[in-house]
Amino acid sequence: MSIQQAYNQWASSYDSDRNRTRDLDQQVMQQLLQGQQYQAILELGCGTGKNTQFFSTIGAAVVGLDFSSGMLEQARSKINAQHVQFQQADLTKTWPVAKAYFDLVVTNLVLEHLADLDHFFARASQALTPNGQLLISELHPFRQYQGSQARFQVQHGQIEVPAFTHHISDFVRAAAKQGLQLSQLHEYWHTDDANQPPRLLTLSWHK
Ligand SMILES: C[S@@+](CC[C@H](N)C(=O)[O-])C[C@H]1O[C@@H](n2cnc3c(N)ncnc32)[C@H](O)[C@@H]1O
Repeated sequence: MSIQQAYNQWASSYDSDRNRTRDLDQQVMQQLLQGQQYQAILELGCGTGKNTQFFSTIGAAVVGLDFSSGMLEQARSKINAQHVQFQQADLTKTWPVAKAYFDLVVTNLVLEHLADLDHFFARASQALTPNGQLLISELHPFRQYQGSQARFQVQHGQIEVPAFTHHISDFVRAAAKQGLQLSQLHEYWHTDDANQPPRLLTLSWHK
């Protein structure tokens, strides 16, 4: 099953499934960005709009891209605001967005599904305004080393969504190639994660 097909199938239960990584990511975004204000936010792989709702409170304009029509349908049913726009787009191809326009480009739990980080960081950097911020939040690669990946329950078992392992150094190198300046790196644990490796990795750069 392709990544796109998997998310179309997962869409209707994505928000209600038990998913500590999804929940932790939502908390962390609010913790990191609460109180900030942005002119234009580009959210890559917005999914069901779990974080878009919050981004819409800190951005004068928000654009959410995703290639799954099922996930976008959920997002659109949840968020109906004039300053929020959703668009179907494949992040491995050309992004249908203006260059040098967004003062925050953000992505959550998406990069494990993209093989080519260079393409991603080049496009993200193009979309940023001078001094704009790129923020990524990902399943920590330490968890991937232990076999974790995006997966969901269906009637007859589990579907694992195809994923790639990117090491921390891969993110750092791909961003440095675009001249982005690393400003923050954080690791997070869910309250259920005692004695486990970190669950989430966030990295933030400025252009
Ligand atoms: C784990 S979900 C995360 C959704 C949302 N960001 C969140 O934190 O809940 C991953 C999302 O990435 C999207 N995605 C994966 N590969 C993509 C690609 N090549 N282009 C666009 N979207 C993609 C999927 O459709 C899915 O909505």
